[in-house]
Amino acid sequence: MKICLIGFGAVGQGVAKAISLKKENIRNKFNIDLKIVGVSDSSGSAINQDGLDEELLIDTKSKTNKVSNYPKYGEGNIQGIELLNVVDYDCLVEATPTNIKTGEPAKSLTLKAITDKKDVVTSNKGHLALFFKELIDKAKGNNVKFKFEASVGGAMPIINFSKNTLPSSKIESIAGILNGTTNFILSRMTTEGSSYKDTLEESQALGIAETDPTQDVEGIDAACKAVILANSILDIDCVYDDIEIEGISNISSEAIKLAKKEGYLIKLIAEISKDNLKVAPRLVKKNSPYSVEGTLNMATLKTDLAGNVTVVGKGAGSLETASAILTDVINVGKSKK
Ligand SMILES: NC(=O)c1ccc[n+]([C@@H]2O[C@H](COP(=O)([O-])OP(=O)(O)OC[C@H]3O[C@@H](n4cnc5c(N)ncnc54)[C@H](OP(=O)(O)O)[C@@H]3O)[C@@H](O)[C@H]2O)c1
Repeated sequence: MKICLIGFGAVGQGVAKAISLKKENIRNKFNIDLKIVGVSDSSGSAINQDGLDEELLIDTKSKTNKVSNYPKYGEGNIQGIELLNVVDYDCLVEATPTNIKTGEPAKSLTLKAITDKKDVVTSNKGHLALFFKELIDKAKGNNVKFKFEASVGGAMPIINFSKNTLPSSKIESIAGILNGTTNFILSRMTTEGSSYKDTLEESQALGIAETDPTQDVEGIDAACKAVILANSILDIDCVYDDIEIEGISNISSEAIKLAKKEGYLIKLIAEISKDNLKVAPRLVKKNSPYSVEGTLNMATLKTDLAGNVTVVGKGAGSLETASAILTDVINVGKSKK
C-alpha cells in the first residue's frame, strides 16, 4: 500500500515513526505492505516510488527542517497538492495545520485525492468542521475510503469504536472533554488554586498551550471536534457555526474553589445531541467519568442498549495521534483485501 504523506510536522513525523516501528508486524499480521512513496512539508517534497526510508525522513527533517533535503530524492520544487500529480500512491495521509476559516490546504488536498480515486486518512479537523457533508458525499460518490479517527481526541478511540464496537446500540448523545490544553489548565487551577492567567502561562512554558492559545481556550478546537462527532456518530447534519461556544478564559480561581468545596470540578464539556450542540464550562461531580486530569480527553456515549459507555485517552501527541492514523490506514488496507 503506497502512502503519500502531506504535512510533516509533529503528526506527520509520528506517522513515519509508527510505520517504521510497526510495518513488519502489519505485514505479518494483515498482509499489508506499507511504503511511504511521497512526503511534503512547506519546503517541498521527497519522492521515491520504491519507498522512502522513514528514519531518514525524520532525521532529515529534524536536522534541516526541510524534507526536500532528503538525500537523492528531495524535490524543492514540488510541494503540497502538486505532489499528488507526480506520485503514484494508494492512500493520502493528510496532516497539514488546521484552518478553521477556509479548511485549506486540507480541503483541496482531500478533494483532489478523492477525485483521483485515492483513499484518504486525515488528522485535520478544519475542513471536516466546515465541509463535512461535502467531503463525505464526495468520497462515497467516488467509492473511496475517507477516515478521520485522529481528528477527534488523538489516540482516544471514539469514531471507529462507535461504529465497530457499538453497532447494536443507537448512540443518542455524546458529552465529553475534547481539548487537552483546557483540561490541563482547569486541572492545574483546581489542584494548585492558581489563577487562569498564571496557569495559562505555565502551560505555554511547558509547551502544552500554543503561543496563541485562542483555538483551545475559547473552545474553538473542541467545537470542531463536536461537529465531527455529531456528523459521523449521531448523523446530525451540522457545521461549525451551528455550535454554541463558550471558552474558559473567564473562569476564576474563586469559582473553581467554590465548586471544589461542594464536591464539583469545572470542566470544558462538549454536549452533542439532536437538540443541543454546545461547548461550555460545566460543573461535574468529582469522581465521575468527567474527572479526568491533565491533558486527557474523554467522552461518554449515551446508548439505548448498552447504557453509558465512556472512553478515555491521550488527546494529542506525535506518536499517540499517529497510532489513530495508522489504525485508519490498516483498516483502509484491510478493506481492499
Ligand atoms: N499535534 C497533535 O497532537 C495533533 C493531534 C490531533 C490532531 N492534530 C491535527 O493534525 C494536523 C497536524 O498537526 P501537527 O501538530 O503535526 O502540526 P504541525 O507540527 O504544525 O505540522 C504541520 C505540517 O504541515 C506542513 N504544511 C503546512 N502547510 C503545508 C502545505 N501547504 N503543503 C504541505 N505541507 C504543509 C508544515 O510544513 P513545515 O514543517 O515546513 O512548516 C508541517 O510539516 C493538524 O491539523 C492538527 O490539528 C494534531
